[in-house]
Amino acid sequence: MSEHICDPKAGITRRQFLYYSGASLVALALPAFLHDVAHAEDLRLQMATYPRVQVGKLSALKIGQPIEFQYPFDHPNCTNYIYKLGVPAGGGIGPEQDVVAFNNLCAHQGGPLTGKFNAKHQVLGPCPLHLTTFDLTRHGMVVSGHATEGLPQIVLELDGDDIYATGVMGLVFGFNNNLAKPTA
Ligand code: FES
Repeated sequence: MSEHICDPKAGITRRQFLYYSGASLVALALPAFLHDVAHAEDLRLQMATYPRVQVGKLSALKIGQPIEFQYPFDHPNCTNYIYKLGVPAGGGIGPEQDVVAFNNLCAHQGGPLTGKFNAKHQVLGPCPLHLTTFDLTRHGMVVSGHATEGLPQIVLELDGDDIYATGVMGLVFGFNNNLAKPTA
């Protein structure tokens, strides 16, 4: 008699036990696995929706002379500057890893940071409203002041001499979603 036929006296065979145990584990783990796959796919799609836009030339950059650009939308809150710092920085590109870009509105209450770049100390600020200063070598983290969030950093890529913006790390002031096109 085959071991696959149940013998009420013998219970289930070892092979049947292993088979049913394995099937139970798969049934339990599969929903969680599929959820993880779907979540990873969502994240990948969100990342992919940032446009890749040329925003400057490496050869045009000079220390202490930031270059303005708009990203990811042509909107006042999406004004950013590329900085050549002269020292390596988090997220920096170029041969010296010293070229970075940041949004220009203070992460506290949106104070404009235009003209507040201190090239000697590689910081941006103090903000004209409540004096927050941001460290551009450390992903825009707060050095001092009222802001509790760092300055949004624009993700840059270099292709030859061309600088491309490919994403934003941190929420742009006044937005609840960096990728939702502003209506006003
Ligand atoms: S708006 Fe910049 S510190 Fe308050």
